[in-house]
Amino acid sequence: MRILSVVGARPQFVKLAPIAHAIAGRAEHIVVHTGQHYDELMSDAFFRDLQIPDPDLNLAIGSGSHGAQTGAMLAHLEPAFERFRPDWVLVYGDTNSTLAAAIAAVKMHVPVAHLEAGLRSFNRRMPEEHNRVLTDHAADLLLAPTAVAMEHLAHEGLAERSVLVGDVMTDVLLRVRRAVEGDAVALPGHPEAGSYYVSTLHRPDNTDDPARLAAIINYLALLDKPVFLLAHPRLVKLAAEHGIALDAGAVVPVSPLAYPQLVRAVVGSAGVVTDSGGLQKEAFLLRVPCTTLRPETEWVETVELGWNVLVDADLASLPAVVARSAPAATDSQPYGDGHAAERVIDELLSRPAR
Ligand code: UD1
Repeated sequence: MRILSVVGARPQFVKLAPIAHAIAGRAEHIVVHTGQHYDELMSDAFFRDLQIPDPDLNLAIGSGSHGAQTGAMLAHLEPAFERFRPDWVLVYGDTNSTLAAAIAAVKMHVPVAHLEAGLRSFNRRMPEEHNRVLTDHAADLLLAPTAVAMEHLAHEGLAERSVLVGDVMTDVLLRVRRAVEGDAVALPGHPEAGSYYVSTLHRPDNTDDPARLAAIINYLALLDKPVFLLAHPRLVKLAAEHGIALDAGAVVPVSPLAYPQLVRAVVGSAGVVTDSGGLQKEAFLLRVPCTTLRPETEWVETVELGWNVLVDADLASLPAVVARSAPAATDSQPYGDGHAAERVIDELLSRPAR
């Protein structure tokens, strides 16, 4: 069987790693990179650090408005699918690369499986929410990470196409956590365990409105420990355009970290402040308190179990919320047991090729 993965943005490379390892020796694997992310630290570093084979094809689409970017991917994926003739196209998560690949495949009658299906924020301002909903309804096989995601799919009439496999990010995180144990923290001054926070910020709702971005930075600046802000290129660009200094008060802006260094930095931190989906869940899996700068989250289990607190309109509460003490310990595993990728490949192999 030939499985073709389409990836393009940073979190997709993380999800690709356990899939690439689980496919090895069981099926042929073709990797197509749309080029949505292209900076060394946003792309190549992940392939290297997570031992993912180089993409078979890079479409080099780059940045653009949603329509221009998604449309260019769609146009270039068609000939790629013609060339490789996959039995399954596997799409990951909720980026514009995910949606483009799902549409291209379904139009060509190539079976398409959606990994991380069924997540919902119910916030239609988020580009990721459009991408998820449209991809789930286009795909032939929905590989859900959680029981809650399965419920969402059932509500939308998609139960028959859905399978609970667990979360592949858990697979890779557990492996990398073991590998980085004992490493120094790759942040300026190699800070002591528990003496700092880790933060990321890249959602359009937080970065695009100068008043909102300035307010977030102002409150981060007031935190009781240094906040290493791993600055996504989008944040750096918009802060510069709006004349907002990122190095205010407690905030120490640094470049994005490679994945193993990110995991190590989070393990040693006193807390995480983020608007990333993946990082909320990684913080939970590493049992580090997380504060999420959004009105809602797709990873509701992190909130229900007390490890994640949402802060949106009431930014003034941020310093107190971030400094809260850790919640009661839990051994709950809502994101699976670290073997989701094997289940994904079992599911694909159990469905006959065309
Ligand atoms: C994208 C995904 C988002 C995901 C995030 C992870 C969509 C709609 N959004 O958001 O779901 O959480 O990736 O990082 O698909 N840029 C660079 N270098 C790069 C990549 C981007 O400088 O390698 C800059 C460009 O100015 C670009 C901007 O970042 O315009 C935004 O990039 P884009 O891929 O459109 O979205 P992200 O914000 O990265």
